[in-house]
Amino acid sequence: MTRLDRRSFLASAAGMGATLLWTSPSSAASRVAWREARTLYPEGVASGDPDAHSVILWTRRPFPDRPRAVLTVEVARDPEFRRVVAHSTAPVREDADWTCRVLAAGLQPSTVYWYRFTDDDGNGSPIGRTITAPLETDDAPVRFAFVSCQSVNEGKQNAYRRMIWEDQRGPADQRLGFVLHLGDFIYEVVEYPDEVPHRYDRTVFDIGRIPDARKAYNFHVPTNLAGYRMVYRAHIADPDIQDARAHFPFICIGDNHEFSWQGFQSFIKYEGPPEPAQGLRVAANQAWWEYIPSRVRKASGPGLASFDPPRVETLPIPSLDPDGFGDERNNRVAVESMTAYRAVRYGRHIDLIMTDLHSYAMEDPTSRPEADAFSVKGFPLLFPQEALEVLDGGRHYDDGKPPSAIALGEISVPNFRRDEPTFTVLGHAQKAWLKDRLKASTATWKIWAATNGTLDMRTDPQNLPTTLSKPWPGKGYATFGGGDFSGALIERAEVYDHVRDANVDGFVVVSGDRHSFWAGYAAKALPPANYEPVGIAFIVGSLSAPGLSESLEHGLKGEPLRPLYVVERPDGTKEATVNLLIKRGVKSAFEYSQSGDIERARSLTNPDLAPHLEFVDMGGHGYAVVTAGSGSISTEFVCIPRPVRPAATPDGGPLRYRVVHRADRWTGGKPKLQLSVLEGDPKLSI
Ligand SMILES: [Fe+2]
Repeated sequence: MTRLDRRSFLASAAGMGATLLWTSPSSAASRVAWREARTLYPEGVASGDPDAHSVILWTRRPFPDRPRAVLTVEVARDPEFRRVVAHSTAPVREDADWTCRVLAAGLQPSTVYWYRFTDDDGNGSPIGRTITAPLETDDAPVRFAFVSCQSVNEGKQNAYRRMIWEDQRGPADQRLGFVLHLGDFIYEVVEYPDEVPHRYDRTVFDIGRIPDARKAYNFHVPTNLAGYRMVYRAHIADPDIQDARAHFPFICIGDNHEFSWQGFQSFIKYEGPPEPAQGLRVAANQAWWEYIPSRVRKASGPGLASFDPPRVETLPIPSLDPDGFGDERNNRVAVESMTAYRAVRYGRHIDLIMTDLHSYAMEDPTSRPEADAFSVKGFPLLFPQEALEVLDGGRHYDDGKPPSAIALGEISVPNFRRDEPTFTVLGHAQKAWLKDRLKASTATWKIWAATNGTLDMRTDPQNLPTTLSKPWPGKGYATFGGGDFSGALIERAEVYDHVRDANVDGFVVVSGDRHSFWAGYAAKALPPANYEPVGIAFIVGSLSAPGLSESLEHGLKGEPLRPLYVVERPDGTKEATVNLLIKRGVKSAFEYSQSGDIERARSLTNPDLAPHLEFVDMGGHGYAVVTAGSGSISTEFVCIPRPVRPAATPDGGPLRYRVVHRADRWTGGKPKLQLSVLEGDPKLSI
């Protein structure tokens, strides 16, 4: 690094208020009397948000007998610490729950480093490994994994075991630069096995008791900071999560469960109407900041030592402003206590543009009790598309002329959204930022990390044969309800129109949350409306949390249309016909349920249902790997069997399938994904 680089870096690091670990040009063997004492560092180590010259290092070392202490931090070019390039101290404090963050700076780009922490008595942390980002001019292809939804209460993290196994054995150019975690890093909804020993196919594992918990349904949820901290510790105690954090740098953006399952802004929602929870939102943000090393902004300023939460009062939030944000001071202060949306440039080929889809979102209209009227008996999970469109539009639907009621067959449902703002997930300021970032990016691929799926999920009940069911009362297609970005129709259209109008090329969306693998095209509308893709989109299966297929296997008992969702063969095998239902339509799903003949089922595809989909697996778990180069981008889905117990082998166990979707750059033309099945037979998904 030149002196000028160093000076400007120091200025920006000072801006972060960082505990700075500056590297020296020469290296020497460690002189620290480190001996590993894992039990004193029960959550291990981690690193986050690498750039070309720096990365944040993390550990947790509780000291029961004092309020603060100091650790020594070392960074080396080798795991034996014979070539230590940096050496510094870092505070650990009780008011940060003994978590510790250090900005290691002055590092070389695209370089692997090892790091460790040691206390005054020589008690050492496990050794972590991290990697800096390539320079913006670096033309080498970039590889990273993206993941979401890790349940330690109901599953095992075999997918991380597999990811580490392959990374340690792969050729150098196949190794991952980082793991992008798209949220549900924790599930704040915790079951206690003495109350709920099983759910679906799952054994409920004991992960401890949340202090001061509130009971909601079968779950216990945090009511304060101590509760969230306990839940983070319970997740990071998982050996596979802990090893993954020690082996790869993580870049994380939270989803809903980092705060509250059905929460939004600083509202929580269980059986009744939304409740204000400003204090809880601050607590959730603080615990996230403490346990996830990152460069998010916090309201208290840039220091890395502690979160220093703003004071808020939990007061009613009586109304929404015109942008759908709760018009109450404490709501604003609570949400703004941490700003998680941010972008990361990683080499020449990718800009990672991460959005927060719950801190600024309105309540999902389809989750409101008034929307229950759109559930039609005999058509499980389905929600009329035309109703979703009206509810999404609010007072702006149809150029400001929303209907007072929505017809559904013989009945008429009041339009409870007609005087409310258009549904937003991003909120005003974040949406403007997203559009600016997309337009300004000079990377080959502009990767929007959207946490929630953006690909439409619908089917065609209007095509059901009359011999199978009564007629569908909707006007045409049925969605599976809102609840993610595919239900934010007007906002999605605004983003995609911007991609088109600003000539944003190389537009790619990656998401999690849906607990299923999807590959397809980013389009604002589907037939009979004009279908015009502006990019490609992928959704990763959950690491471990149960997906729709699994719940369907245990549900819909006695429903006449059940075979369109899941079919049980005489030998007990269950097959996810729901994949065909979404990708090919009711006739295809029904044919397969009857004959088991996939070719005949495919021949009955409704071509207008899902031109935007290449792949759907509502039962897949695992992770995805993106390889982004100058001419093409590919996304590999690594799908494991349902992770209900720990893998029996150190490689994380067998795979169900491994498939790759690849797209060449489509500058000027339309994107086209090409599928290669490398292992297994995901025949209902393709
Ligand atoms: Fe999830």
